[in-house]
Amino acid sequence: MTTVNDTRIPRATLTATGRYFPDRCLPNRYFYETLKLDTSEKWIRARTGIRERRIVDHSMGETTSYMAAQAARDCLSKRGLEPEAVDCIIVATVTPDLGFPPVACIVQEALGARNAWAFDVEAACSGFLYSLSTAAMMVESGRYERVLVIGSETMSSILDYADRTTSILFGDGAGAVLVEAVPQGLGGGFIDWCLHADGAGVKHLYRTGGGILQNYPGRSSLTKHQYVYQEGNYVFRNAVTNIIKVVRELLERNEVGIEDIDLFVPHQANLRIIEAARAKLKVPKDRVVLTIDRYANTTAATIPTALDIALEAGRLHPGDKVLFAAFGGGFTWGSSLLEWTVPVVDGAIDQASFDPDGQAGG
Ligand code: UT7
Repeated sequence: MTTVNDTRIPRATLTATGRYFPDRCLPNRYFYETLKLDTSEKWIRARTGIRERRIVDHSMGETTSYMAAQAARDCLSKRGLEPEAVDCIIVATVTPDLGFPPVACIVQEALGARNAWAFDVEAACSGFLYSLSTAAMMVESGRYERVLVIGSETMSSILDYADRTTSILFGDGAGAVLVEAVPQGLGGGFIDWCLHADGAGVKHLYRTGGGILQNYPGRSSLTKHQYVYQEGNYVFRNAVTNIIKVVRELLERNEVGIEDIDLFVPHQANLRIIEAARAKLKVPKDRVVLTIDRYANTTAATIPTALDIALEAGRLHPGDKVLFAAFGGGFTWGSSLLEWTVPVVDGAIDQASFDPDGQAGG
């Protein structure tokens, strides 16, 4: 049996990132001024940390697959690769364009990534980490060189804008990363990941629309099936507890101390969840990536977009240890630890790291 730390297998790493957000911005006041919901700026900011979120414009053709393809193009262009170089595309989403086929196939066609096979992963807010870990294992198996992992969500399409407890929480957007083997001469890569699920959580956070139960006699006409149902406070408490537990599990089994973490990129569901986990784990504030204020909860897209933003801001350097953690519907949750590999220049991966002569890196 091999493990991710086995020196006989190639280490996988991230070699590029990209993102796409719609231009259309909904500030908090949209909910209490325009929609006349019984909420306020003060409540939303204090209880969630959210100031605004981006929402697709259907007249511009913005959909989950469109945003995914745009994020993928951004990612591949930063890496200097053509879409034909991609072996597989995985899209994490709970808001696919169609019941089937997968968003990943629509993206494959849009990109012209004709050499890639393509599938979706539906694991709610943990969908990106589930997909990322799958991609890393595919690369570490030695059978695939480049796997594109995308988190893309049109949450605005499944929200009840008359429900103040859910509508204020979510936004739309897409993030993409490219998973490849660590380039020769460079170190780092994925160290480990811990992934979990507990189906007892199903009844606390779900959407029936899109599933076959919606078509059972007497049920299909109910519009509430279209919308997210969430017992917010129950989910909140489980999120805090499980994120703390799964980060400790990951760090302890790899003998990595919290002081060794250079950047913490958590799922962005609620600033208070992130802050509670951060404080308990004793992660210094300046090592946490926060995007929830501007983009709210974009479900499977929060982690890749946050990572891309952090990279652009110059917050990642070779050798840095990057910790990811997520919790969401299912329940599903997990954490992942990566040692950043390649140098970054002006917010993009330094192409010289891939010089076949091995000039750069180390
Ligand atoms: O990424 C998916 C996974 N989801 C999560 O990780 C967690 C999501 N949950 C949350 O973020 C929080 O639970 C919420 C932001 C949804 C709610 O915050 P809370 O501190 O858990 O509040 P609560 O649900 O206990 O509700 C407190 C009060 C209630 O009123 P009463 O019963 O005390 O009179 C709610 O009706 O706040 C009320 N409330 C609101 N008030 C003003 C709920 N939503 C709003 C609102 N504006 N938008």
